[in-house]
Amino acid sequence: MSRTPVLEVNNLSVGYQTTKGVLEAVRKVDFSVYENEVVGLIGESGSGKSTLAYAIMRLLKNGAHVTEGSVKVLGQDLYNMDPETLRTFRWSNISMVFQSAMNALNPVMTVEQQIIDTLRFHDPSISKKAALELARELFRLVRIDPSRLKSYPHELSGGMRQRVIIAIAIALNPKFVIMDEPTTALDVVVQKSILDQIMELKERLGFSILFISHDFSLVSEIADRVAVMYCGRLVEVANSGTLSTPDGHHPYTEGLIHAIPRFTDKKTKLRGIPGTPPALDKIPSGCSFHPRCKYAEEVCSLQAPPIVKTEKSIVECHFHAKVGEHNG
Ligand SMILES: Nc1ncnc2c1ncn2[C@@H]1O[C@H](COP(=O)(O)OP(=O)(O)OP(=O)(O)O)[C@@H](O)[C@H]1O
Ligand SMILES: [Mg+2]
Repeated sequence: MSRTPVLEVNNLSVGYQTTKGVLEAVRKVDFSVYENEVVGLIGESGSGKSTLAYAIMRLLKNGAHVTEGSVKVLGQDLYNMDPETLRTFRWSNISMVFQSAMNALNPVMTVEQQIIDTLRFHDPSISKKAALELARELFRLVRIDPSRLKSYPHELSGGMRQRVIIAIAIALNPKFVIMDEPTTALDVVVQKSILDQIMELKERLGFSILFISHDFSLVSEIADRVAVMYCGRLVEVANSGTLSTPDGHHPYTEGLIHAIPRFTDKKTKLRGIPGTPPALDKIPSGCSFHPRCKYAEEVCSLQAPPIVKTEKSIVECHFHAKVGEHNG
């Protein structure tokens, strides 16, 4: 069965213009997200997740720019669109819940006004009355009583504010939504209820999600596939079901698996990944993970690793077949 991609990222690199020259935060990234699919994107802080998300939205700022590659959403090249087409295309086809979005609401406007403004900015043909009716419907969808539309952000709880942000992201019925750490700032109980709700909305409205998080166990639970980012590269894209054992995955993915208590049996010691990720101006040669990798041999510092397709995943490693050997 052939699947329809909603997102196709090809050979995408993103650089930040700095006093040290252009530093690449996303390096030759390739992946797709298909209809109705949830893809989790994980990686340590600074690995380039948000930069990749902004590049996909064509919303890069702070001196960041695409240096090569392309982004297609629903088959259309986002970087070949004129600004007016892009304005209507974005939000009605692709939208994003930004990292720390909870603080993104305007504190001096009611949430009703903010939702209506968003709706009318992206679809100027919509009447005020229709926008208000849609805002009510959206509140019902994210399970907030529509009477709360008159509230100012500070009158809502953190969980409610995040629901408002999600409501705005799905307002124009997009086919694809990027969620950048949508629940990180919330306590565990609220986090769980919002996640359940996101998955329910996804089923009901039929959109695909790129779900960005540091939390490997959470992501592997909700995603169909997990993309693992290290130092600006996608080092692995694996089927979630295969992540209960480290064998055959990328050594970095193995480290993430070992850092989750319930993924390891009692005999296996819980371990972190030694060392820290390198700075963008000191990316190691060959495989950028090699200085932290227990499987590394000389070739890893000399040659870029091959991209290997296995049943479980697409993995970029000279020695992925050895992963698992050192365990126990
Ligand atoms: N304006 C900027 N100028 C230069 N470098 C930047 C700038 N913004 C981000 N970076 C660098 O780009 C890299 C990727 O940052 P990014 O915010 O995309 O990471 P992230 O994976 O989203 O991290 P986090 O998990 O903390 O949100 C980091 O090394 C960061 O220091
Ligand atoms: Mg980020």
